[in-house]
Amino acid sequence: MEWGMANRMAQLIQSDGRALFLPVDHGYFQGPTRRLEEPRKTIEPLLPYADAIFITRGVLRSSVDPDNTKPIILRVSGGTSMVGKDLANEGITTSMEEAIRLNASAVGISIFVGSDYEKESLLNLSKLVNKGERYGIPVMAVTAVGKELEKRDARYLALSCRIAAELGARVVKTYWCEDFKRVVTGCPVPVIMAGGPQVDTELETFEFVYDGMQKGAIGVNLGRNIWQNDFPVAMIKAISALVHHNATPKGAQELFSNEKGKKEKKS
Ligand code: 5RP
Repeated sequence: MEWGMANRMAQLIQSDGRALFLPVDHGYFQGPTRRLEEPRKTIEPLLPYADAIFITRGVLRSSVDPDNTKPIILRVSGGTSMVGKDLANEGITTSMEEAIRLNASAVGISIFVGSDYEKESLLNLSKLVNKGERYGIPVMAVTAVGKELEKRDARYLALSCRIAAELGARVVKTYWCEDFKRVVTGCPVPVIMAGGPQVDTELETFEFVYDGMQKGAIGVNLGRNIWQNDFPVAMIKAISALVHHNATPKGAQELFSNEKGKKEKKS
């Protein structure tokens, strides 16, 4: 690996081999998502506990001060919306030159395996990898499922992750599922777990993160289950304990309960 690529990967994946990415990119197709209406207010209290932030250029420029030193993973795919015809019909929205100008440590793009736009999204990933490799910028592939949440089984996610890795993604972000080991085993690059819509209890989140880590994921890219929680700082601290300190779900729950008693600045 070239020095620049290796250096950027080291910024993203910590010396323990683990990573906690904080995604706040949801507005690029969801608009002002609940509790991300004013991104700066959501991001500021959580940033100290994240290893990197996944964000579009618009929110980066408007809502993160340039003296920030946390690594940036720039969301560079988009062009569709929740109310449009097909979420899968994404293009590349942001050039590699812009990513360099914004001092991004990586770029992120969604792929939609099995959709009408499978080929376009996979070729977009390939084009991005070609450019990223030229400049030493890693590409994180996001295995997106559009509105069809039922696609989140091990067979489908293993297929998507493997394809993303084969096309050159340096990191793959996917959903946790039953039999998650199958997904990780078939993917020769590091796998990160997304959360999806907020679940009913914190413990459910802790349990799937723990299980995924046990099965080989290197960390999380967890958004709504952190910042839509009533106690987002307590939540990210508990997730960090799972990712970086081998906490159990019970340990994470205890930490969360202790931390939530402390005053948090509400978004
Ligand atoms: C949305 C994304 C998010 O980065 C990803 O889904 C993780 O966030 P969450 O945990 O809220 O699902 O790709 O565009």
